[in-house]
Amino acid sequence: MSKLRVLSGMQPSGQLTLGNYIGALKNYVKLQHTHDCYFMVVDLHAVTVPQEPEKLKDQSEAVTALYLAAGIDPNVATVFLQSTVSAHAELGWLMTTLTYMGELERMTQFKDKAAGKESVGAGLFTYPSLMAADILLYDTALVPVGDDQTQHLELTRDLAHRFNQRYGDTFAIPKGYFPEVGARIMSLDDASKKMSKSSPNAGSYIAMLDAPDVIRKKISRAVTDSGREVKFDPQNKPEVSNLISIYAQCADKTIAEIEAQYEGQGYGPFKKDLAEAVVAALEPIQQRYAEIRSSGELYDILRQGKERAEAQAEQMLKRVKEKMGYVVL
Ligand code: TYM
Repeated sequence: MSKLRVLSGMQPSGQLTLGNYIGALKNYVKLQHTHDCYFMVVDLHAVTVPQEPEKLKDQSEAVTALYLAAGIDPNVATVFLQSTVSAHAELGWLMTTLTYMGELERMTQFKDKAAGKESVGAGLFTYPSLMAADILLYDTALVPVGDDQTQHLELTRDLAHRFNQRYGDTFAIPKGYFPEVGARIMSLDDASKKMSKSSPNAGSYIAMLDAPDVIRKKISRAVTDSGREVKFDPQNKPEVSNLISIYAQCADKTIAEIEAQYEGQGYGPFKKDLAEAVVAALEPIQQRYAEIRSSGELYDILRQGKERAEAQAEQMLKRVKEKMGYVVL
């Protein structure tokens, strides 16, 4: 039996955080051995908010290098830049025409990102239609993401059904794939907000490339509630529960093991060990990252990825265009 197809991507619009790592990247690495995987850097999505050209290029390379440093093997999985496979933009347009305004208006991520802005780019609004195209181009079965992408995935499934109904069976209906613990890592300064690279307060997130001492400082300053019990209770102890999730993922421990380990000890020893667990998880990735960036091999890997991705995507785009009544030459 052929392997199930997996596709996912991250925006190169700032530093990748521990949230990106735990919510998605760790699962990319895990799935590559059992599935046929496509991992992209979604540089077309990044420009839905203004980007400086030099930074966009640097961040696109940085995200690619972090994928590899985290353990993605480019000979096993296909790693590519979204903008290098033009079928994404093309199917993105076709998906936009299939999407209702009301569906896009309901997207909470759009509402959050647009809130308080005087002018909002149209691309930010139609962003989920492009994401649907990304996924549907590859007959994707599973999409490893954090749970902030649930609504976008629902729309993708709806659009796939709509297309199939209107034009005949074409698209596979994809499912999300989420980590059991840490599907939504929260900010260190406010557990009601998701940890995000776009936060103006660098103390609210841990970047995957933060130096060990910076990580230690950020964790020691992380907000905790006034109690002293290390207990997983997201309703009543959201801050501590968030830290326990991070610990569980970085040290490969269960929540119950962590609770038992710190019973009766208060937050002090827990936070200290947590910081060391995060450093131990990220430090080897940081070392490999530096080697990969200086190796000069990134563009070759991305060229190979583009070719493999293009071969798949072009086939699907052709099928879609034929179904819709385009003259395909
Ligand atoms: P992006 O770039 O915002 O985030 C990349 C991935 O990281 C996950 N993530 C988190 N998970 C847990 N806790 C957090 N605090 C956290 N922050 C981010 C996200 O859920 C995501 O999986 N729309 C997507 C990019 C995209 C995409 C796609 C994803 C475009 N096309 C096709 C999958 C398939 C996004 O903006 O992710």
